Parts: sequence; C-alpha cells; structure tokens
Amino acid sequence: MRTKEIIDLRSDTVTLPTEEMLEAIRHAELGDDVFGEDPTVNRLEKLAAEMMNKEAALLVSSGTQANLISLMSNTKRGELVILESESHIYWYEVGGISMIAGLLPWPLKSHTGALDPKDVEAAISPKNIHFPEPALICIENTHNRHGGTIITPEQIRAISEAALAHGLKLYMDGARIFNAAVSLNVDVKELTDHVDNLMFCLSKSLSCPIGSLVVGTQEFIEKARKLRKVLGGGMRQAGIIAAPGIVALEKMIGRLKEDHKNAKRLAEGIAKIDGINVDLGRVQTNMVCFDISGLGIADDLFLLKLKKEGILTLMLAENIVRMVTHRGIEKNHIEKTIAAIENISNELHVGLN
Ligand SMILES: Cc1ncc(COP(=O)(O)O)c(C=O)c1O
Repeated sequence: MRTKEIIDLRSDTVTLPTEEMLEAIRHAELGDDVFGEDPTVNRLEKLAAEMMNKEAALLVSSGTQANLISLMSNTKRGELVILESESHIYWYEVGGISMIAGLLPWPLKSHTGALDPKDVEAAISPKNIHFPEPALICIENTHNRHGGTIITPEQIRAISEAALAHGLKLYMDGARIFNAAVSLNVDVKELTDHVDNLMFCLSKSLSCPIGSLVVGTQEFIEKARKLRKVLGGGMRQAGIIAAPGIVALEKMIGRLKEDHKNAKRLAEGIAKIDGINVDLGRVQTNMVCFDISGLGIADDLFLLKLKKEGILTLMLAENIVRMVTHRGIEKNHIEKTIAAIENISNELHVGLN
C-alpha cells in the first residue's frame, strides 16, 4: 500500500539537509571551536561576515539563542528595548528578553511589521529619574507574524536615523533575511548597511539542520562569544554544523525565488475560494496567511480536515492560518492544497444562502 505524501506547510524549519550538505558534514575539517580551532566554523563565520558587510560573525545553535545573545551584547540589564509588538522576540522566545537578559521590552504596533520612525522617536523617553535607559531598537526582517513581510532598505535607514539621533543601537532579527533580499532582488548588504548588528538563520529556508549566525563589529562579536559560552552554547567540533551552512550560503539562496513563486501561486489560488480572505499585498516572500472565519468552521476542524489530506499547517491566531513554502514544496503540492481548501469550502456550502 502506498503511504500518502505529506505536504508540510507548517514552517520552512522542516526542510531536511541536501545530499551535498550531508557530504559536506562527512568531509568537514574539524577542531575545537571553543579554542577557536575549528577551521570549518572559522570559514563559515568569515563568509557570513563578508556577505553581511560586517567585521565578524559567530555561529550559534538557534535563532532564539542568537537573539538572546545579541540583546545581551547590545545592552546592560535594566535597559529598555524598543521592538515591534508582533515580533518573534516578544512572542515566542519564552520571555528570555526579561527572564535572562533583564531588559524591559517596549512593544510598538505597526501595520506590516516595519516600525514607524515617528513612533520610535515618541517611545524614546527623555532622561528622567523614573524611566529606564533606552538602549536598543529591534526590527524583524522578514516579519514572521505579519506573514513574511519585508522591511525595505529605505525603511531600515529611516529607523536607523532615529536610533542614531538618540544614541541607540539598531539590531535586526534577520532569521529570513535572504528571503527579503531575494524578493527585493537586492544584495543582502543593502539590508544590513544601516543596522549595527543582526542575526540570520541557516536552519529555515536555507535547508540546514541547525544553526544561526550573529553578525556585527569585532568588539560586539567578542562580547557575544563570551555570552554564548555563559548560555551553554560553546560548541566543540561545530564544523559539522558549519559545513552545511557554507553550502547553504554558497548554493541555497538563489532557489528561494521558487518558494516565493509557490507562495504567490498558493495565495492567488485560495483567494478565489468562498469563505477565504487573503491579503495578497502581504504575500511578499514564502508565507501565506489567510482568514478562514468566512468558512464558519472551527480552527481545529479545519486543520484536521487538511491533515486527513496529508496537508500540515498551523494557526497563527484565531481563524488565521499560516502556510510556509520551502524546498520540497512543489507546484503540484500547491495545487493539491488549493483543491483541498476548495473542497472544504464546497462541503460547507459557503456562499450559498
Ligand atoms: C523571525 C524569527 N526569529 C527568530 C526565530 C527563532 O529561531 P529558532 O527556532 O532557530 O530558535 C524564528 C523562528 O521561527 C523566527 O521566525
């Protein structure tokens, strides 16, 4: 009996390493990275810094660890951090910003993920005995909870001017920064030019099994390296993580446009279905978020019906579904997903009265 093919649209983190990555792991030159002696890690860090046009980089285990280390390297305990109210740091990192870094997050709302410099200016309180010292502004690019939306180089520059005017640092959670660069058809340096430092993930749409990189000045990375150690992230023969990372940076970026094309195809297909509402303007990279409230079906039941068809996805919020395209999701999977959602809509007789 043939088993049903699974179409996993929950996240781009579900991608598996390519054969070339597995080969690279097999043949990686290794050493002890806590002593700075793993040649493969050193090569990856150098490559990442060059690509981002910064002085240095540090390999860490995950995006969450990268964000935490970066928050701590940019601030002192008790300081205030301005971030977007739907940001990953604020929502999904177990409150590490407060629990471990000892910082006060100051969330600001936005329409599609980009902070308005005027709101940022207004949030920077004057020096006063009652207020914590503002130290850092965080942006997220692409923005996950806004549906993979892009913060453009111009928007980043405008926020950086507000940061500079008040002596604050600007940090970018660039977990999916290459999705933004590919979609805009710009060199990623255009997106990193105006931030002091950033992180990006190897383990999402670039298909690596593990790893993120923190990137910034030499001084910032030295601090980050020590903080990585205190957080238990000092790794030994980490070249087995770095080796597929090098393959990712050299070979896996160009193909992201396929994921973006599939996301658009999916969004345009489901936009025609009765009971589904999708904002096509927000479909800028590899995510599609859509509102199913017009179907009149419980969220759990919607997910279950898709699961029965072999399609896995997640709710982003009540009635809001998020689907993410990635390597392994092809045009036929998109067509199958559109047809499955159409069937659910037809079953429910949406549009009939
Ligand atoms: C924007 C963003 N930042 C950070 C992270 C955290 O990455 P990790 O899951 O590797 O900890 C994610 C994960 O999805 C993310 O989407």
